[in-house]
Amino acid sequence: MTSLADIAGVGADPRRGGYSRHGFDRVELELRTWFTEEATRRGLDVECDRNGNLWAWWGPPGDGAVVTGSHLDSVPGGGAFDGPLGVVSALEAVDVLRAKGFVPSKPFAVVVFAEEEGGRFGVACLGSRLLTGAIAPEAALRLSDSDGVTVAEAMAAAGLDPALVGPDAVALRRIGVFVELHVEQGRGLVDLGAAVGVASSILAHGRWRFSVRGEGNHAGATLMVDRRDPMIAAARVVLAARQAATSGARATVGKLVPNPGGTNVIPSSVDLWLDARAEDDARTRAVVEEISAAASAAAAEEGCSVTVTEESYGDTVVFDAALRDSLSGVLGGVPALPTGAGHDAGILAGHVPTAMLFVRNPTGVSHAPQEHAEPDDCAAGVVALAAVLEELVR
Ligand code: GLV
Ligand code: MN
Ligand code: MN
Repeated sequence: MTSLADIAGVGADPRRGGYSRHGFDRVELELRTWFTEEATRRGLDVECDRNGNLWAWWGPPGDGAVVTGSHLDSVPGGGAFDGPLGVVSALEAVDVLRAKGFVPSKPFAVVVFAEEEGGRFGVACLGSRLLTGAIAPEAALRLSDSDGVTVAEAMAAAGLDPALVGPDAVALRRIGVFVELHVEQGRGLVDLGAAVGVASSILAHGRWRFSVRGEGNHAGATLMVDRRDPMIAAARVVLAARQAATSGARATVGKLVPNPGGTNVIPSSVDLWLDARAEDDARTRAVVEEISAAASAAAAEEGCSVTVTEESYGDTVVFDAALRDSLSGVLGGVPALPTGAGHDAGILAGHVPTAMLFVRNPTGVSHAPQEHAEPDDCAAGVVALAAVLEELVR
């Protein structure tokens, strides 16, 4: 048996609370080793693809496989379930099927995608984006973490060859269908009174970096009228984000970095990151436009300048309706629900039939330590995943 308890001590973050597990860092590498051992113990053959994604094959690898899995990295100070629940449930689903004497009649794999949250290098779903060509390898390799370590350096340190990174037609061809089980990241299933559901869609979403430049100076010696303080413009961007996100759109500034970042120093620059999401491309773009315009006006008023850079983007995902309905049917008609959270399944959905199963989260909280799923609901998730995989692999 494998459970989240096996990895409860890996990457716990005493400062932030919850877990900090980031792509190719020491903690994520430890989790990848743990996954490799768990898969190997089950007789699965583990291989790492050119982009750092791990594949555990039950039987010989081949095209058109039934694939399930998720990711092991987290946001900074994230919950225990986002990602690892899908990986653990996939391994447990293999156990359930094995115990029934089931042998897959087509290729079957459990996958762990690399750097799904973008918590280290800024771009979410890096492993699946690279695999599908949604990000250029050169652009990905030069992304860097807060210590200046590039993706290329981190991958090389993890034993991967950065020269091989990029679109992987072989790996993509091998995915016949992908099913990702995930903790729900809202209260939809709580309200519906269901332990398990299927995903219908994902909001369009992206990340934009706002770099505001002003003049560094002394906090005591500089008169208020003489300041060109980028923090003032940054603060107005934060408020503009709240104001622009109407009609179901979401806009968040969750990271703001002043340079140099001293209590008695007017910063010379501030970088902040906007996460914006809405029902479709046009609405998402309109939110970002409105916030960018507010940023330009605020910067000009403060004698600062601002640049806005799109760091990643994904349009609305509508999951394959026939697959979704057939999986819901296999599960006795479980509800379908949309999500505002991004997933590797969303990246793959543009290339292969893809579906997601959600497991009820009683707190409705995610990307925070309070994220939760009850053991009975996790067990129901495993049973549901096994049933769905059995059907797909037939
Ligand atoms: C990932 O979980 C995201 O939605 O950003
Ligand atoms: Mn997440
Ligand atoms: Mn996730």
